[in-house]
Amino acid sequence: MLNEEFITVALPKGKLFGLSTELLKKVGWTAESLSEKSRKLVIANDDAKLKFIITKTADVPTYVEHGAADIGIIGKDVIAEEEKNICELLDLGFGKCHLMMAVPKNKRRRRLEDYAHTRVATKFPRIAEKFFTARGMQMEYIKLNGSIELGPIVGLSESIVDIVETGTTLRENNLEEIVSIMDCTARLIANRVSYKLKYERIDALVNDLQKVLRQG
Ligand code: PRP
Repeated sequence: MLNEEFITVALPKGKLFGLSTELLKKVGWTAESLSEKSRKLVIANDDAKLKFIITKTADVPTYVEHGAADIGIIGKDVIAEEEKNICELLDLGFGKCHLMMAVPKNKRRRRLEDYAHTRVATKFPRIAEKFFTARGMQMEYIKLNGSIELGPIVGLSESIVDIVETGTTLRENNLEEIVSIMDCTARLIANRVSYKLKYERIDALVNDLQKVLRQG
């Protein structure tokens, strides 16, 4: 699977895509037509020996773990949820958000423990379960793939565990954060074997990215 000549980079479509391609471009890791508008899933730059693959956000760690991509860019939330065997190389600083628990404003209970044994809708059942179990709380987890905020509005769950970036989605749906679970940013990750076999190029990328990040 591992292509020794090219470096394959997995990029998530969605919110992190534009910021990822922008940052990579600053260190010369780019390709013609690597734009948000394209529907192409594989975009190569033959001269630079680079291949970009565009995947669904939650799948980036899977492509990297299996070596279908040598490296990837993905949020810490997805890394923590997917628990794949990959190495995390660098905090890229962008894509700042946090994972939290929220409930409808008019149904707020006094203490966190008062939600024990209720239903929580989330895209992050593993992180949520670890969080509640560590607090001695047994919960019922309902896995959703998007629009998590809808859960408590239609009576599917009492609460949600989800990402907040600007807070607009919570506000517009009359939800209120009751506890923060983890802070997240985008990370550069690598396949463990690729990191050894293609160390020179990957390490040079890490150094160049660090320089660009330091310059702000
Ligand atoms: C994410 C997240 C929230 C929203 C938070 O969803 O799940 O719904 O963004 O952002 P905000 O605090 O700036 O409003 P996304 O837009 O990725 O789509 P999804 O609901 O399909 O997961």
